[in-house]
Amino acid sequence: MRLHRFFRTTTFRLALLYAVLFSASSLVLFAFIYGTTSVLIAREREQSIAANMASLQDHYAATGLRGLAAAILARAQPNRVGDNIYLLTDPQFRPIAGNGTGWPPLVEQDGPWLTFPIERQLLGEPEVYLAKALHAVLPGGYHLLVGQDMRTQERFRRAIVEALIWSVAITLCLGLVVGLVMSRNTLRRIESINSAAERIMRGELKHRIPGRAGGRAGGDEFDRLTENLNAMLDEIDRLMGSMRTVTHNIAHDLRSPLTRVRNRLESALAGMDESDPRRETVEQAVTEADQLLATFNALLSIADAEAGAGRGDMVPVDLEAVARDVAELYEPLVEERGLFLETRLLGPALVSGNRQLLFQAIANLIDNAVKYAGPGRRISLTVEPGNGRPELVVADDGPGIPASDRSRVLERFVRLDPSRSTPGSGLGLSLVAAIARLHNATLSLEDNHPGLKVRIRFPMPG
Ligand SMILES: Nc1ncnc2c1ncn2[C@@H]1O[C@H](COP(=O)(O)OP(=O)(O)O)[C@@H](O)[C@H]1O
Ligand SMILES: [Mg+2]
Repeated sequence: MRLHRFFRTTTFRLALLYAVLFSASSLVLFAFIYGTTSVLIAREREQSIAANMASLQDHYAATGLRGLAAAILARAQPNRVGDNIYLLTDPQFRPIAGNGTGWPPLVEQDGPWLTFPIERQLLGEPEVYLAKALHAVLPGGYHLLVGQDMRTQERFRRAIVEALIWSVAITLCLGLVVGLVMSRNTLRRIESINSAAERIMRGELKHRIPGRAGGRAGGDEFDRLTENLNAMLDEIDRLMGSMRTVTHNIAHDLRSPLTRVRNRLESALAGMDESDPRRETVEQAVTEADQLLATFNALLSIADAEAGAGRGDMVPVDLEAVARDVAELYEPLVEERGLFLETRLLGPALVSGNRQLLFQAIANLIDNAVKYAGPGRRISLTVEPGNGRPELVVADDGPGIPASDRSRVLERFVRLDPSRSTPGSGLGLSLVAAIARLHNATLSLEDNHPGLKVRIRFPMPG
């Protein structure tokens, strides 16, 4: 699975951020523990060194140099000495007794306290540690050095650092794993919302976002989002439905009386003398009634196509055959208007569709080309099988449509200014768009340099 998609999710980033925060807080915690504890250890060590020194000095006062040397020899026995350091020297710093090999070099001094490096064996290999010691000059010029090396502290420091590394590594690994798991769940649910949205946008207006498998009621925020989106879609669907019903009802209810008016005018016309001066007026009224009827019919067809009527009775249709029929029917009209129709039918092109509506769409496009390209122009009607994704193109070399108007003309009743004088209702392209949507096809208006090129790309027939 593509991992970078997980890394980009908010959930994953949040999980990782928490892991980093936890790591940082454990770092602070460890530093605090280490700081306070090492201060305590250092203080304790100083106290024990000072106590050692005091007791040895007492020894010296009571038993003299010989007694002191004996006491030091006893304390410096390998099985007793631990991390203690004892060294008694004569006034020239030559060792008399103790476990130090000689007066330490490289001495750093802070009052009576000396700090110096010392080589010690901790675990196998000899290593160099720092040691801290008190220096006292005894009566008679003898030097007494009593101290401890910092093995314990070093061991403690290593344990803390190790624990810190482990805890940060574990926190980060856990953060990564939790982040991946959580973002996979989140992604899966967002993906289901996305794919539902895509299906709805493709025209399956009745589709809804599926609930979670196992469908616990009143679940998490995703369940609520799904519920709300579905409720919103229902509401939109209801509103669109009522709008469609209103349009449909108006067109439908006005069509019958209009047809009656038209027919009465026609029979009045039949009863008139050829020379009757009112004839022309009545003829005009019939033409206008016809145009109105055409508008109502177009509105009804659009409403039907948009409601997805006919989606149920989609059948395999050969686009090439439909285009041939339209071309045959329109050729005389095209030629009568002084244009040329060039058909390029490049082979059978099966789509799953409604034959009548496809016929209507091609006819509308040719009708537009005839009306708006003007005499002397060439119209081309192309059907390409396109490897199972057929393409229908109707192009002319007339004035075309400016790019800024190309999406607008697909809306209902939109007619561009240069076309106001030609008869029409501005519904032809809307119907083409609705038919394309019904077929899950994409409609695009392009520049034919010069002229308009309308391209409809159909999906694979499912
Ligand atoms: N082939 C074309 N060349 C130039 N303009 C066009 C062409 N086809 C459509 N149009 C413009 O798009 C508008 C909308 O077309 P349409 O929806 O078919 O409505 P109608 O043909 O009834 O005016 C037309 O009024 C016209 O201005
Ligand atoms: Mg038209």
